[in-house]
Amino acid sequence: MKLKNYEKPAVVTCGLPYANGKAHIGHMRTYIPADIYVRAMRKAGREILFICGSDTHGTPVVVNAEKEGVTPKELVTVYHEHFKNLFETMEIEFDAYGTTDDPENYNRTKDIINKNIEANHVFKQKTDVAYCTKCNMFLPDRYVEGICAHCGEIARGDECDQGCGRPLGSGELLNPVCAVCKTPAVYKEQEHYYFKLSDFTKRLEKFLENLKGTENAINYSKGWLEQGLKDWCITRNLSWGIPFPGADDLVVYVWVDAPIGYIAFTEQWAKKNNESWEKYWKENNSDIVHFIGGDIVYHHCIFWPAMLMGAGYSTPTDVVASGMLKIENQKFSKSRGNVVWVEEDYLEQGFHPDLLRYYLAGYTSHTKEVNFSWKIFQDKINTELVAVLGNFIYRSMLFVYRNFGKIPNGEIEPEIIEKSNQTFEKSFEALENYEFKKYIDTIMELAAFGNGYFQSNEPWNLIKTDTKKCEHVLLNCMQIVKSLCILFEPVAPGKMEEAWRNLGFDVSLKSVKYDELTVPLSPGTPINKPEILFKKVEDEKIEVVEKIAQARLSEADIKSKPDKSGKDPKNENEIKSIKKTKNEEESMEENEDIKIITIDDFFKTDIRIGKIVSAEPIPKSDKLYKVIVDVGEENPRQIVSGLRDYYTEEELTGKTVCVIVNLKTAKLRGVESQGMVLAAEDEQGNVRLLTPDEVMKPGSKIR
Ligand code: MF3
Ligand code: ZN
Repeated sequence: MKLKNYEKPAVVTCGLPYANGKAHIGHMRTYIPADIYVRAMRKAGREILFICGSDTHGTPVVVNAEKEGVTPKELVTVYHEHFKNLFETMEIEFDAYGTTDDPENYNRTKDIINKNIEANHVFKQKTDVAYCTKCNMFLPDRYVEGICAHCGEIARGDECDQGCGRPLGSGELLNPVCAVCKTPAVYKEQEHYYFKLSDFTKRLEKFLENLKGTENAINYSKGWLEQGLKDWCITRNLSWGIPFPGADDLVVYVWVDAPIGYIAFTEQWAKKNNESWEKYWKENNSDIVHFIGGDIVYHHCIFWPAMLMGAGYSTPTDVVASGMLKIENQKFSKSRGNVVWVEEDYLEQGFHPDLLRYYLAGYTSHTKEVNFSWKIFQDKINTELVAVLGNFIYRSMLFVYRNFGKIPNGEIEPEIIEKSNQTFEKSFEALENYEFKKYIDTIMELAAFGNGYFQSNEPWNLIKTDTKKCEHVLLNCMQIVKSLCILFEPVAPGKMEEAWRNLGFDVSLKSVKYDELTVPLSPGTPINKPEILFKKVEDEKIEVVEKIAQARLSEADIKSKPDKSGKDPKNENEIKSIKKTKNEEESMEENEDIKIITIDDFFKTDIRIGKIVSAEPIPKSDKLYKVIVDVGEENPRQIVSGLRDYYTEEELTGKTVCVIVNLKTAKLRGVESQGMVLAAEDEQGNVRLLTPDEVMKPGSKIR
């Protein structure tokens, strides 16, 4: 086997976590695949530098520090250490892990801003900034909340985090309220510095044409570019952060100095290792690969490359954006307690890092949403890692150890080498395309093949009848184990290293390249007594962690009740009520939330009275019922409806409801649905059926 010759090295970065709170498994969704990518690329012989660090500035840090009653510096010091250690434990091994408060980042930020100033990409402008008359302060970013002017959702000062995801500028946040004291904010005029993003439209177009990575990142960015770019305010009224060159009372907006951290940390690494950072960031002699969460695409594909272009630095070559994470099928939410903390909920419960690495990278494609559920976790580990990969490695090695104590004699079948080669080629191609699930699945197929090979050759019989053949079979099994170790190390570095050592190797598996796959094992090498590689996750253990999760939810619930200082939910309600008034005030035509249609449009929907005959749960779904409804036709309709959380089967049966009868039939969970039962949902998420004032005959038309 010959490995590819990569022309250029790559610097691979991960979005910098805010050092303002603990790591949860949502974070891991980005960092684990990035680490897998780096390990695999190195195995393929590519020179890679892996960079990350703490994002220490901006209101995410200042606001949390205030809440905790510490200084921003104190807060970030604690959480910087937390993240750094946690990444190490999770076997996510960066070459540098600095903080954006390090001197290198101050200098690099100043340089990039000054270069942009020199090139006339920065200008000063008067603008309206939200101000709280009660707190007597300007309200940057997370200090202010209101309504997104684009989509009508609740939003923060600088981003529509719950709605359309747009970064927001001046005038794009309606009904601003101070996030600290909840007083409606006023707008005051102030002078700020702007980056002329619109200068870069053409260059960004070209940049996006060539950008590699995941399609979600590239396509979203192209869409934004088409909508036109607004100049970008890059200064803030805060005392924590990097002072803006030439304006002592302002600091640089966090989204300017945070990505510059990628460069600053490269410089830290370069200094320590007597290397060049310019090779990566100035000379176009390297690929630049950013792994980020799907919510910060705009910053990495629009703002960041424009700043780099304006200052004469190299621009990213790949942006890889991960999908979001749900927990137990519910939206991830720290304030609502729907969160799994990596340290206390996972590691301290005794789970090995490799299991989570396997789950998060192998559950679904990188850009899709992952649902983390403890039951699915248990199932995936037990039926895949334990039953397939672990089983093959442990059982074949134990058999060899007990009967021979060393790598057995024999010849390695060309088919086995071929199989390893094919697995490498297929899996690595997937990896190059950022398809981590496919990378993993392909290797798991080799493990399944190994199981089949062991089973069908029955070495436990051969040992009694034909020792030579037995040794031959086992040698080949050990060769498959060797391949699995090499191929799977990027996913499960700790566990595979363990198996590798037991196979009798003393070089670290991390440094072994893929071309070792085709090198035959040497018979006679002593092997060590193997331990069970992956242990079954027991029901009792899952009960424990599920209880912890439950407790977290109820705790958050108590906190959110009015009096107990549940700051956030109270605030949310307040904003929601503002939102309502806003809607009432505006005339219907102008209202962004309600789209006007004609009466003819309405009558396209055929709604009839129906009577529910029966309802039964749909297996493998916890939300859906199969509902049979009489709508006055010859045969009743079968409709799939998401009412399980709100009505029991008994409550539904016999109810008179409203049904859309001219919807195209659809299949949900394999069950055909011939219409839709109408229900209403309020802002608390309560759902109630629409029913007529008095019982009416099925089939009656709604008009
Ligand atoms: N701290 C930011 C977040 O968690 C990410 C910063 S990425 C960087 O959303 F590129 F700006 F560093
Ligand atoms: Zn929005």
